[in-house]
Amino acid sequence: MKILKPKILGIETSCDETAAAVVSRDDMGLPKILSNVVLSQIDNHAEFGGVVPEIAARAHLSALDHIIKQALTEADTSLDEIGGIGVTSGPGLIGGLMVGMMTAKAISASRNIPFIGINHLEGHALTARLTDNVDFPYLLLLVSGGHSQILRVDGLGQYKRLATTIDDAVGEAFDKTAKLLGLGFPGGPNVEKAAQTGDPSRFKLPHPLKHHDTLNMSFSGLKTAIRTQAQKLEPLKEADIADLCASIQKTIAEVLSDRCERALEAHCDINTLVVAGGVAANTEIRARLNSLCKTRNCTLIAPPLNLCTDNAAMIAWAALERFEIGETSDMNLSARSRWPLDEDTASMIGSGKKGVKV
Ligand code: KG4
Ligand code: ZN
Repeated sequence: MKILKPKILGIETSCDETAAAVVSRDDMGLPKILSNVVLSQIDNHAEFGGVVPEIAARAHLSALDHIIKQALTEADTSLDEIGGIGVTSGPGLIGGLMVGMMTAKAISASRNIPFIGINHLEGHALTARLTDNVDFPYLLLLVSGGHSQILRVDGLGQYKRLATTIDDAVGEAFDKTAKLLGLGFPGGPNVEKAAQTGDPSRFKLPHPLKHHDTLNMSFSGLKTAIRTQAQKLEPLKEADIADLCASIQKTIAEVLSDRCERALEAHCDINTLVVAGGVAANTEIRARLNSLCKTRNCTLIAPPLNLCTDNAAMIAWAALERFEIGETSDMNLSARSRWPLDEDTASMIGSGKKGVKV
């Protein structure tokens, strides 16, 4: 099936954002976002210090219909004009995924619109094609609450994982640091804010796996180092918290930049680095990667902040690319709580066990 300039509805419910969006191509064939609606559940989960799966699923259930309606209205369209539906079918929290998939299947069956299940990570991986029309191949640094990976992206569905975390995801390191320092949930933006007034050189934190012959990453030791420093300083003053935040942010930015540099060195046929996932919203990390790319004479593509964090425009876009090569899903498709982008690479012991936030 080849649809010309279709409007694609995207649905995303894999974690704590209920999101719907409509994307298409313009008259020149360039990607176009017609609407992008995201309802964050942060307030529902804040008092628990993290995402509670049952609460998330119920919140998706009560909000999704309205969010889809709003996305259609903001795109100035209706289901009559929708040529296909893309829905996140994994990885993520199974209850939320099922809400999104049942909704997509119901619209598909009642309106006779094709649908396709999309890997949430593929949504992140292809965002740069939606925002910057970037060509394959490129290296992708995917950094979020559940994943820290470097992938080589050679084409649609052609993903080779070059590196991953051997323990915590980088977003978790931010979130756990924030919790430890009493900065609340979600941690990343709060750590970044506190770091603005901090001294990044006050604490010397470890650079895990720095001298190892690997591109892999490790972040659990960093979190422990922050705890140790914090315990020594008890009771913490505001300036201590700012300095700890600035130190961990700088260290994480250095680690990510170091791994990307080595990946670019090993793949010198590639001169584009794309950064994606919620942690890619961090200004210090972006700045480090930017200067790395400048010195290596390659291009850094960092999507706008609202398209780095979870959204449905990226799901609609991945669906559009897949519809264009004739792919669709059928009603037997099931949600998958775990679904690596590169299924050929063995999973890393200890990493991504949560399979929750990606
Ligand atoms: O991709 P994403 O929106 O959701 C999932 O992981 O599913 O990423 C969320 C993660 C959280 O760990 C959050 O703390 C982190 O991204 N994050 C940040 C920033 N904004 C969000 N980390 C560091 N700095 C930020 N500005
Ligand atoms: Zn995500």
